Amino acid sequence: MIHSEAVVQAARRLAAARKAVVLTGAGVSTESGIPDFRSAQGLWSRYDPAEYATLSAFLRQPAKVWNMLAELEDLLDARPNAGHAALARLEAEGGIAGIVTQNVDGLHQAAGSRTVIEFHGHNRSFTCVRCRRGFDRAAVRGMPSVPGTRMPRPDPCPEGTPTRCLLKPDVVFFDEGIPPEAVAASAGLVSGADLMLVIGTSCEVYPAADLPRQVRAQGGALIEINLDPAADLHPDLLVQGRFGEVVPALVDAWARLKA
Ligand code: OAD
Repeated sequence: MIHSEAVVQAARRLAAARKAVVLTGAGVSTESGIPDFRSAQGLWSRYDPAEYATLSAFLRQPAKVWNMLAELEDLLDARPNAGHAALARLEAEGGIAGIVTQNVDGLHQAAGSRTVIEFHGHNRSFTCVRCRRGFDRAAVRGMPSVPGTRMPRPDPCPEGTPTRCLLKPDVVFFDEGIPPEAVAASAGLVSGADLMLVIGTSCEVYPAADLPRQVRAQGGALIEINLDPAADLHPDLLVQGRFGEVVPALVDAWARLKA
């Protein structure tokens, strides 16, 4: 078990907070086997986001983008790790009001977290960019692939159009807006928060990276839990370490203080 002074300090701040919230990024899923984006082994070391993570690139070369999407589909059996479980416990015991996550993998919910705002969408469903029809994952998994690619080949679009559906997961690409309901829900969650745990994110992507700034602007404090500290966050407290080790230790320490 971790007994670092930083974890004890974090637990004290958490125990004293009136309203604590959490922002997570890809670093909370690496211990579940899903790569992050900007670490040395991250997804963007192998795929240029300008070519693989924009809607315009997808519309130009969907089969190319589906090479990356299919690699991520292969990770769907990923299970929550000890850090996800500890955050679910922390919420159930009243220590946090909820989580805003930039992740699309659903692992917080799988671990039992209830208030989870998916800022960048999720990978549970797909939408045809041509006719806007929605497809769930099971339907897409059952589809054949376009020959020579890993892109699913659904039926033609309905309503007599000559096109075939072109499926995109319901995740937010770089040149797309944040789902309005996620913007509204996160504003509500963060409003009044006097503490934010910022976990496993480089805080390089906006507007998600504005959320810690909002907490600070309203007089709140930031605790960062990260392997590599975010360049521009300047937290009140940094706990450098692994999500799956630090957060369970933090929640144990918090629970002892609350007992
Ligand atoms: P990044 O890859 O930018 O940052 C991940 C952070 O997690 C880094 O600071 C790592 O050091 C840290 N990390 C990795 N493993 C960790 C572990 N086991 N414990 C603790 N920290 C760990 O990922 P995000 O900040 O989430 O957006 O990226 C933000 C957005 O950029 C993503 O949502 C995605 C991407 O482009 C879209 O696709 C729209």
